Amino acid sequence: MKDIIQRGAEAVLYKDELEGKTVLVKERIKKGYRVEQLDDEIRSSRTRHEARLMERAIGSVNVPRILKTEKFKIIMDFIEGRKLKEALLDMDKKEVKNACSEIGKMAASTHNLGIIHGDLTTSNFIVEKDTGKIFLIDFGLGKFERKVEARAVDLHLLYEALKSTHFDVLDIAWDSVTDSYSRNVEDWKKIESRIEQIKKRRRYK
Ligand SMILES: Nc1ncnc2c1ncn2[C@@H]1O[C@H](COP(=O)(O)OP(=O)(O)O)[C@@H](O)[C@H]1O
Ligand SMILES: [Mg+2]
Repeated sequence: MKDIIQRGAEAVLYKDELEGKTVLVKERIKKGYRVEQLDDEIRSSRTRHEARLMERAIGSVNVPRILKTEKFKIIMDFIEGRKLKEALLDMDKKEVKNACSEIGKMAASTHNLGIIHGDLTTSNFIVEKDTGKIFLIDFGLGKFERKVEARAVDLHLLYEALKSTHFDVLDIAWDSVTDSYSRNVEDWKKIESRIEQIKKRRRYK
């Protein structure tokens, strides 16, 4: 019996077993409104693209290991834990600082590999229960790109995520993210000023 974790617009995620191990399957589902052949092509290319991004990140960033891929499926390590979005709510300031410093470093490593994550929110980090290790997931909107602009947009989304659900610790959280990000990425000054511009643009909208 498949243990469904989430049914998204594009993919269904479920727990399964592979060679006696608990795994997470991310399967892109059929879209009835698309012509079948095109739908097939879109789902398989998005699956391949996401798997390529994850494979590139493995070794430099904590991402779940891919155990197997199929046409529409990525089968990966199941990370037992909870979303950072929830975990942050139970953390004291020092723990928030540490976690945010960790994700800042992960964002920098991701960018240094030439990857833009595309959905860098606190819902896409999982804190592993037993180890406290943080994993980055969901490269479904990711791309290979090195531009300052794209990096700034990526980080700004993280800022917005922290602002919307962790407003009380926003300052220490964001300072920790940017402090460690800036120490681990090239071109920080340019990225920082782009982020400031994006924030301003949004305020005046
Ligand atoms: N490797 C994993 N281990 C455990 N849970 C996972 C894993 N990957 C995804 N999940 C769970 O499934 C949810 C949706 O996964 P995600 O890749 O973000 O899909 P979507 O593209 O639909 O947002 C995550 O928020 C998380 O709760
Ligand atoms: Mg997601």
